[in-house]
Amino acid sequence: MSKAVYPGTFDPLTRGHLYVIRRAAKIFDSVIVGLLNNSAKNPLFSVQERMDMIREVTSDIPNVEVVSFDGLLMHFVLEQKANVILRGIRTGTEFEFELMNAHANKKIEPEVDTLFFPCDSDFSCVSSSMVRDVAAYGGEIRDFVPESIAEKLYLKLEEKKKQEKEGQ
Ligand code: COA
Repeated sequence: MSKAVYPGTFDPLTRGHLYVIRRAAKIFDSVIVGLLNNSAKNPLFSVQERMDMIREVTSDIPNVEVVSFDGLLMHFVLEQKANVILRGIRTGTEFEFELMNAHANKKIEPEVDTLFFPCDSDFSCVSSSMVRDVAAYGGEIRDFVPESIAEKLYLKLEEKKKQEKEGQ
């Protein structure tokens, strides 16, 4: 059985990520969205909130599962009994960086391959932080993230603003 892990921080998941997940689900028997519990990035959404959002927008894809992990990606991949790591590629610069990571992961476990997935050109400029920035200044983000995630992001940013005001 072919099983791929698509890892990331997903703070929040974008339409670019969703494109990769949907395409991958047609290629692999099973796709695990591996949500990294990455405190270094100081995420806006909690792990649970991010998992719930991804589960909601992928609920129509039966072979996609969302699982969170800490620590080394390769340990998670082996724990999941997956044989492929999927990484979306938006630009040439990103490819170089991802290639280095793929080599490092290959040294850790030679039996697991990294596959690069070209992103949809419509989303090559989209990233989670770009979406958070645009939303924070009241910009329109529905072209970049699914509707339900856009609503949660606007609400979250409002909550955060309120808390910051109260803390002053
Ligand atoms: N569409 C839109 N945006 C995309 C995208 C796509 N298809 N693919 C990536 N991105 C964006 C993300 O939104 C994110 O944007 P941001 O920086 O503005 O938040 C950025 O690209 C990179 O994010 P992501 O792909 O989620 O990677 P990451 O850096 O958060 O995490 C891991 C990558 C999880 C693979 C890596 O950090 C990891 O493996 N960590 C575990 C520790 C480990 O094993 N280290 C050794 C690795 S060799």
